[in-house]
Amino acid sequence: MANKIEIKYNGESFELPVMTGSENESAIDIGKLRSMTGLVTLDYGYKNTGSTTSEITFLDGEKGILRYRGYPIEQLAEKADFLEVAYLLIYGELPTKEEYEKWTRDITHHTLIHEDFRTIFEGFPSNAHPMGVLSSLVTSLTAFYPKSLDPERSMGELNMSIVRLIAKLPTMAAWAYKNELGFPLNYPDNAMSYVDNFLYMMFALPVEKYKVNPVISRALNKLLILHADHEQNCSASTVRLVGSSHASLYVSISAGINALWGPLHGGANQAVIEMLEEIIEDGGDIDKYIKKAKDKNDPFRLMGFGHRVYKNFDPRARIIKQSADEVLSALGVEDPVLEVAKKIEKIALEDEYFIQRKLYPNVDFYSGIIYRALGIPTEMFTVMFALGRLPGWIAQWLENRKNGEPIGRPRQIYTGVNERDYIPLENR
Ligand code: CMC
Repeated sequence: MANKIEIKYNGESFELPVMTGSENESAIDIGKLRSMTGLVTLDYGYKNTGSTTSEITFLDGEKGILRYRGYPIEQLAEKADFLEVAYLLIYGELPTKEEYEKWTRDITHHTLIHEDFRTIFEGFPSNAHPMGVLSSLVTSLTAFYPKSLDPERSMGELNMSIVRLIAKLPTMAAWAYKNELGFPLNYPDNAMSYVDNFLYMMFALPVEKYKVNPVISRALNKLLILHADHEQNCSASTVRLVGSSHASLYVSISAGINALWGPLHGGANQAVIEMLEEIIEDGGDIDKYIKKAKDKNDPFRLMGFGHRVYKNFDPRARIIKQSADEVLSALGVEDPVLEVAKKIEKIALEDEYFIQRKLYPNVDFYSGIIYRALGIPTEMFTVMFALGRLPGWIAQWLENRKNGEPIGRPRQIYTGVNERDYIPLENR
């Protein structure tokens, strides 16, 4: 395969190298383009732009392949434990038995959050969205652990920041939820597994005994694994970009949480359920909403459909759809929302508009339905995504720093007004 590309501009010819990754994906390396030709590239939404090289996650959108550090997502979702996958993403290999025990012990040991966080919670209005609360709390970790502001200080300090984040995010998320309800906060129970402990903090009440349902625990473990990384998506790129200014891990992750919140990204899982509920309330006329989604003059989009990279199917959606069926039948839940979702999927998959544009259900289309069945409230859906995505963000941040990548700073093409003279206020 050619490893150079020739471009002709203004009567001159230039050669740029072509690099190939370990799965044979190729890219033109434009690192010297501007110095050679004076040109920059323009690519809205980075649809054709590789922002980095990465060893963490491989995905092939045409073939519907997703692998973390080489391991197929199907195998990890079926067989692994979320903390094991977190270790794999962050440190590059599956942990040995000893490494796994130490890793889970360290994380379990740090689940408590400082008592002063209670005061911070009290400062939020009770209707605060838990995503906003979560990102604020993660930023506020810098106040409690000021040494974390200097990540180069030592690998030990950085590892502590990683452990604290993974340990404390479920506590913060569950407390954000309890605060919203005005219910008493539950302290972590370190005798429980990571997932069970989260469920306990979310749902246990002082007035009655709470027993974790293993069906729910297994489903949640799987969902967290499926969300754990997705290479250079909007929030991971945000984390890398913020980290590239040498901002600390906590604030970079906080930025990632905010990027995830948007309805075109992780916020879609909440938006899907709201859309399905709206369709039911509106009489269940699915065709009307399919028409709206296809109408260029209508801003409505079929939430949970389409993906920037998956153009045949989203492998995560396939696993989640099957899991949704299993969970609902095991829990004996009959959800009209699932029925509407299935009808929409069937209609859309046979519709020319969606076929032509390769729009398929994505991970968020079915994840919300499982979260509902598990008793997780709609506003917490994107928080669940954040809990799952955390190890991926950490791995992306670390890789950016380990590679010594330069500060991220794209160029632009200015299309505004040319130079003009200031007009004093009285003359305007
Ligand atoms: N409903 C109707 N039309 C759509 C949809 C949709 N959900 N998604 C894309 N299109 C159309 C779009 O209007 C465009 O049509 P045309 O070529 O005629 O102008 C064409 O399909 C290509 O869409 P695009 O917006 O250029 O594609 P993109 O790669 O920039 O956007 C997306 C990808 C996921 C933001 C988009 O498909 C979307 O808005 N989907 C709904 C929101 C959603 O479910 N997001 C979750 C993504 S998966 C979780 C995650 O990883 O974050």
